[in-house]
Amino acid sequence: MDKVVALCKRRGFIFQSSEIYGGLNGFWDYGPLGVELKRNVRNAWWQDMVGSNDPWTVPDGAPTAYHMVGVETSIIMHPQVWKCSGHYDMFVDKMVDCRESKSRYRVDHVKGRWIEGKVGDAAPARLFLTAVADGPELDAALTQRALKLFGMRSKEADKLQWQSESTSLATLSFEQYGSVIGPEATQPGTLTAPRDFNLMFKTILGALGTDADAAFLRPETAQGMFVNFKNVCDSTRVKVPFGIAQIGKSFRNEITPRNFTFRSREFEQMEMEFFCHPSQSRQWYEYWRDFRYNWYVNLGIKSDRLQLRDHAQDELSHYSVGTADVEYAFPFLDEGEFGELEGVAHRGDFDLRSHMEGKLVKDAGGNLVVEQTASGEPKYRGSGKDLAYFDDQTREKFVPHVIEPAAGADRATLAFICEAYAEDSAPDDKGQMQTRVVMRFHPRLAPVKAAVFPLVKKDGQPEQAREIYLALKRAGIAAAYDEQAAIGKRYRRQDEIGTPWCFTVDNQTLVDGTVTLRERDSLEQTRIPATDVVAEVQRRLA
Ligand code: GAP
Repeated sequence: MDKVVALCKRRGFIFQSSEIYGGLNGFWDYGPLGVELKRNVRNAWWQDMVGSNDPWTVPDGAPTAYHMVGVETSIIMHPQVWKCSGHYDMFVDKMVDCRESKSRYRVDHVKGRWIEGKVGDAAPARLFLTAVADGPELDAALTQRALKLFGMRSKEADKLQWQSESTSLATLSFEQYGSVIGPEATQPGTLTAPRDFNLMFKTILGALGTDADAAFLRPETAQGMFVNFKNVCDSTRVKVPFGIAQIGKSFRNEITPRNFTFRSREFEQMEMEFFCHPSQSRQWYEYWRDFRYNWYVNLGIKSDRLQLRDHAQDELSHYSVGTADVEYAFPFLDEGEFGELEGVAHRGDFDLRSHMEGKLVKDAGGNLVVEQTASGEPKYRGSGKDLAYFDDQTREKFVPHVIEPAAGADRATLAFICEAYAEDSAPDDKGQMQTRVVMRFHPRLAPVKAAVFPLVKKDGQPEQAREIYLALKRAGIAAAYDEQAAIGKRYRRQDEIGTPWCFTVDNQTLVDGTVTLRERDSLEQTRIPATDVVAEVQRRLA
């Protein structure tokens, strides 16, 4: 992971936000190559979800053909949206404060191990030593902390008396907190009892600045589609089943943002709400689950680092009757652990009914009912608008069920970066094999599709190479031009940013009009007419 992060900074994929001021935790900037890569991820999603759809063709595995449209909705919405969606009450993480270090942690992010030892003058005790880290980093951090805490030297590490494997603080009861040494504390028992922390960023609308004017930055784009369900039905000719797609920024005040862009406070989602007849919702759920998994495979995540995992019943969100996650084994995780790339959820009619009737909860019989206050009033009132769908062919009126594939553009981009990173060997200018770093991006995602070089900076080669470069740009193909350094070095520079094809103008070009086409992955070199370069790249991208 360290190599990936270093490459992202060195080659201008991802920078820490506000870096010259020391950075801002949980916020990231995309550099010149990163912005192209992420735009390609977004475009691939939009093209495969919205652009390529037509209402007549039944896609493989789908129950029927369907309509698909897009929207772009506001980041700040009516506060009632979040009350009825459940986010106002339930979008919370458990957190603890440390009285000693004054830091705040998300309970499930604090990991630790039981160890027997003696802190200062105190009697030897069984302590739960913690750190905020995962995998090998966690082991290293805990060992360092234990040595320091017990005043031991590095070479005594094998004398540490560990009593358990590492586990999350969330697995401990509060009664055990007296033995816990917080991630930045020196004494046990300084963590407070866990309490709820709402992840929505609050802001104030207008100049008066009272709490009555409070609003929230959206924590998901999904609600923009639900509240516009009726507008879309009334303004277009879509018929159930149909989907509404959106790509946009979401914000969550994550307590412990970490693992590079994986968990950020500002991030981008690519979500689609698919409205269907309740009797077909299971089939559509299975269709979208498989479709979304295959989307990542088709864009190059072919390794066994990708998996589709069905949620256990007790993992399901408050609204969901079935969810599967597409997961990737990010390199910052423990061996065998996977991180969520995308959730595909069967949300039933929870969202549309909540926005009609008021916030819903499950009663003792498992039925969704409007949550009430002690005096029997609805806790949060819905819009009161009729969001049911009328099928004018069957004359049936019903509240559609919803299937939601919800992906993160930043997480997908990070997974594509991690999967692309490889080290192998390639010949240098003297024919000696040298280690090279190569980003094996799928050509659809590669930030630069083609690079053009003159072999030497004379004999009209730069002019001819620039002509090819400009022809690529005019055709809308992201291209690069480079005449600095030896040719092997220039190939290596393009390998490191994942450019699939390089074209070199050389002495033979001036004789027969051909250029060398060099492939990033196979390293194969062939010759093609200079006049065919644009068509060749277009053919390979198609
Ligand atoms: N509308 C459902 C929803 O928002 P989610 O699982 O909370 O579901 C969907 O979010 C996707 O958004 C996640 O799978 C992940 O890719 C991305 N995501 C969520 N929180 C994120 C964060 N703090 N940083 C980066 N991406 C995040």
